[in-house]
Amino acid sequence: MSSLLRDNINWVGHIDWDVRDFHGYRTERGSTYNAYLIRDSKTALIDTVKSPFSAKLLADISAFIDPGKVDYVVCNHAEPDHSGGLPAVMAACVSAELVCDAKCRDALSAHYDTAGWKWRIVADGDNISLGRRTMVFIETPMVHWPESMFTYIPEEKLLFSMDAFGQHYASAHRFDDEEPLDVVMGEAKTYYANIVMLYGSQIAKVLDRASNLAIEMIAPSHGVIWRKNIPVILGAYRDWVVCKPKPKVLVIYDTMWKSTEMMAGAIAEGAMEKGVDVKVLNVRSTHITTLATELLDCAALAVGSPTLNTTLMPQMAAVLTYFKGLRPAGKAGVAFGSYGWAKGGPGAVAEYLKAMKVDMVRDPIECRFVPGAAVLGECRNAGGALGAKALTAGR
Ligand code: FEO
Repeated sequence: MSSLLRDNINWVGHIDWDVRDFHGYRTERGSTYNAYLIRDSKTALIDTVKSPFSAKLLADISAFIDPGKVDYVVCNHAEPDHSGGLPAVMAACVSAELVCDAKCRDALSAHYDTAGWKWRIVADGDNISLGRRTMVFIETPMVHWPESMFTYIPEEKLLFSMDAFGQHYASAHRFDDEEPLDVVMGEAKTYYANIVMLYGSQIAKVLDRASNLAIEMIAPSHGVIWRKNIPVILGAYRDWVVCKPKPKVLVIYDTMWKSTEMMAGAIAEGAMEKGVDVKVLNVRSTHITTLATELLDCAALAVGSPTLNTTLMPQMAAVLTYFKGLRPAGKAGVAFGSYGWAKGGPGAVAEYLKAMKVDMVRDPIECRFVPGAAVLGECRNAGGALGAKALTAGR
């Protein structure tokens, strides 16, 4: 396995083949925690790994250099999947300065016992010479936390991009051209949708800054390193930061006795008649991670829940709470569902959608117990309206 990015710049991270849950995100293909070692007149470690893998990280560093001789440990992002190894690393790298911005020092100090750490606080645009190469620091707030930053090596046209452009994707190879591009891009999309969709405007600024840099390689903190398909991932991010819609209608629902499921089917039929792509997903058989990924680029969504105890079903409440936090932009939508002796489910769904600033094409479609021809006709019409919106938006 080649871990060499450039002369004397090596990947020293960890491949986590086994992880399947990343604070609720379903990581079907595992992940990697990427750390990088730059050996020059000075030596720098860029980021660490999750804490259980600290010993392996130190062993990998030791294959190249005595950890006691590392000069700088750069922390681009304080989240524990990248900073968890810092206590062990800082204990072993006795000469090293911990390089980060002021917000990162604050965050790290709230996570770890940092007594004895030597800090080197940097700000946007600062740089540190390693000899032949220079580390330039670019603050990227909210990509993914407030303290996040990129480290750029201009002499190598190499950008260490932390979470940005990453994927939860464990693989034997380290580079994008060594793995199937469709799979990697699918995981990059899932990552974007579930981790940073709500920070689209901040990421757009980062993309603008990145466009002014000469870049031949992007080394994120998760997944493969981009060296061949950089325009592909940057182009995809340009679309994702604005939730650019495809001509696609997403129908998601929960159901108790199949009434809401029948309504979902009729909405899907109406949308399909417009010739758009339609996805119909039951929230109890589709993971929330997949639902968020489908949400990112749909033009319209129909969300259905039966009424349980005068409100929506609990699993749908969880999905909509997640969606609301991700702040998808520019979607059309409709709420639907059944009730028995008391209303509440579809109305509660509609409130969530309105809070997400969804452009509602009509009032909630409600049916008492089992939908008859009239209600199913309403559903088909609503599906048609969403399909028409998706056709226009997806052009
Ligand atoms: Fe991969 Fe925001 O940590």
